[in-house]
Amino acid sequence: MTVHFIGAGPGAPDLLTLRGRDLLAACPVCLYAGSIIPPDMLRHCPPDARLVDTAPLDLDAIEGEYSRAHEAGQDVARLHSGDLSIWSALAEQLRRLDRLGISYTLTPGVPAFAAAAAALGRELTVPALAQSVVLTRVSGRASPMPEPESLEVFAQTGATLAIHLAIHALPDIVARLMPIHGPDCPVAIVVRASWPEERILRGTLGDITTKFAAEPAERTALILIGRALEAGEFRDSALYSAEYQRRFR
Ligand SMILES: C[S@@+](CC[C@H](N)C(=O)[O-])C[C@H]1O[C@@H](n2cnc3c(N)ncnc32)[C@H](O)[C@@H]1O
Repeated sequence: MTVHFIGAGPGAPDLLTLRGRDLLAACPVCLYAGSIIPPDMLRHCPPDARLVDTAPLDLDAIEGEYSRAHEAGQDVARLHSGDLSIWSALAEQLRRLDRLGISYTLTPGVPAFAAAAAALGRELTVPALAQSVVLTRVSGRASPMPEPESLEVFAQTGATLAIHLAIHALPDIVARLMPIHGPDCPVAIVVRASWPEERILRGTLGDITTKFAAEPAERTALILIGRALEAGEFRDSALYSAEYQRRFR
């Protein structure tokens, strides 16, 4: 028996990987977070699969589901939103499975920041403007931010910031970044990227709070901040220049 952790992607059912789809179809048990996994994705599960919404469960109850499936010799598909490598509560589940001697596999998914960039029609790294993307968040109920990983420190680098789990803290984020980036720095908020109700709000540090207050969203939104978001003057990357050695493309 194996637990298959699957990155479900940002929401659109057709952004699930083929491997994820095939695993869903092969597992008689599926655990998913009902608040963020679209119901349409569950149609890949066998018709008689046991479907468990983990939204109301704590970690002990989720462990109980794994143990029950283990005793019954039933493989489990465990869906998490986006990719598994960021904010998926994977580490604590793997630690428990290790203790129980239950095997597992990990299948990556399309992360929300990539879906948000696609919705915006933007590359997040632009030659000479920003060559790094910081995937970060602000302190929240689930866990505090480690002291050295402050927004101010990341912002000083000029990297594009992709701030997760933070839409409730927009005014605070703007106030902290304004002295570093200035009021004209581009900001984009992408709500529910790739869902039918996807919404995009573009602005600057100077006006995004007011714009957002006029059209608020409660959660499942990503805040992107940085100069790479503006379609301005920048030099081409060397990758497709005539002089570039093609074997590295
Ligand atoms: C618990 S984290 C999960 C991140 C996920 N593992 C990933 O790879 O993107 C949830 C946060 O990711 C962001 N998020 C997830 N799905 C999103 C989507 N479809 N559109 C915009 N933001 C999304 C939001 O900031 C949300 O608060």
